[in-house]
Amino acid sequence: MGSGRKNDGKKSVRFKRLCEGVPSDLAATAVRRSLMRWYRLSRRDLPWRGTTDPYRIWVSEVLLQQTQAERVTEYYVRFLSRFPTLSSLASATWRQLLPVWRGLGYYSRGRNMLAAAKLMRLHHRGRVPANLESLESLPGIGPYTARAIMSFAYGKPLPALDTNLRRVIGRVFGVGGEDLPLAAEALFAGARNGNLNHALMDLGAMVCKARTPLCARCPLNRFCVAFGTGALPVVVHLPAPRNKPAIDVGVGCIHRDGKYLIAKRHADRGGNWEFPGGKREKGEDIRACLKRELREELGIEVAVRPAFFKVEYSNQRGRFRLHFCRCQILRGKPKALDHDAIKWISLEELLHHPFPEANRAALEKL
Ligand code: ADE
Repeated sequence: MGSGRKNDGKKSVRFKRLCEGVPSDLAATAVRRSLMRWYRLSRRDLPWRGTTDPYRIWVSEVLLQQTQAERVTEYYVRFLSRFPTLSSLASATWRQLLPVWRGLGYYSRGRNMLAAAKLMRLHHRGRVPANLESLESLPGIGPYTARAIMSFAYGKPLPALDTNLRRVIGRVFGVGGEDLPLAAEALFAGARNGNLNHALMDLGAMVCKARTPLCARCPLNRFCVAFGTGALPVVVHLPAPRNKPAIDVGVGCIHRDGKYLIAKRHADRGGNWEFPGGKREKGEDIRACLKRELREELGIEVAVRPAFFKVEYSNQRGRFRLHFCRCQILRGKPKALDHDAIKWISLEELLHHPFPEANRAALEKL
């Protein structure tokens, strides 16, 4: 149970750290409930979601291998109008299938499907088998696809560990390696059907994204080990004031001897530690802005490199576009002229240091 962390100086989030490692029943139930509530409201409307027909599920899962859901949609519809049943596919030749597949890439998937359809006709009475072993013995069906079929077609709550599920489960429970499938099994132990896979896939695709996770919107942030320990590059998206142009802000990453300079704002400005910098003035470019800001705030002359990372976020005060630039001190010793304090800190320490979410996003790049 938990500690708190300041969120951009405005909101503080309380963490119920129920879950570190393989979750208990209690933790798994809490995570599942929050996730499924979110899923009911936010789920993606994808055409294969409305069916449990094993053939259709199999087709969708093969098309989805290595291809994003949004792109698969049109291929899925076209595939099923050309080959509406397993029997029609089993009777087809590669020349007949090729025009439907063209443009999707990874053609071996299509050839494997044809071979698997013929084997299902021969050995499984023209049906998609309903057990893992038979499924995995078919061409093009590996452990992931077999579990997805068992889950979506036959209602068995088995974790289908694709990249999204691995990332979400890895982050929420702070697990990797051999513990990850164990954590997944524990999470699925009380699930009633395969929708938990859909929910995790959607969360991974829409919120818990690989490079820019939207933790402020995540239904699991209060449980999440990665979020709670500040290990994620987080971008905050709060409701943006409409029709207002973004305010450009230069942010200086001043580096010396393996450490970065951070500065603590005065208490009446939130009291947060941050990379120093400030708002661009009219007619200034962002590098000139940073030179000026660092002169005013820290009493130093710096060389500013072009921005290596930009991020936008919004809060009640407006929409901000942060330009992160590496800076090198040319003259002067930094002094806290406009801050409560300054200090040099290693990246490693910074990962565990209270830091604004939008600044945190740059740490990964550094
Ligand atoms: N990726 C793999 N299977 C998926 C599914 N059933 N829905 C969305 N994305 C997926």
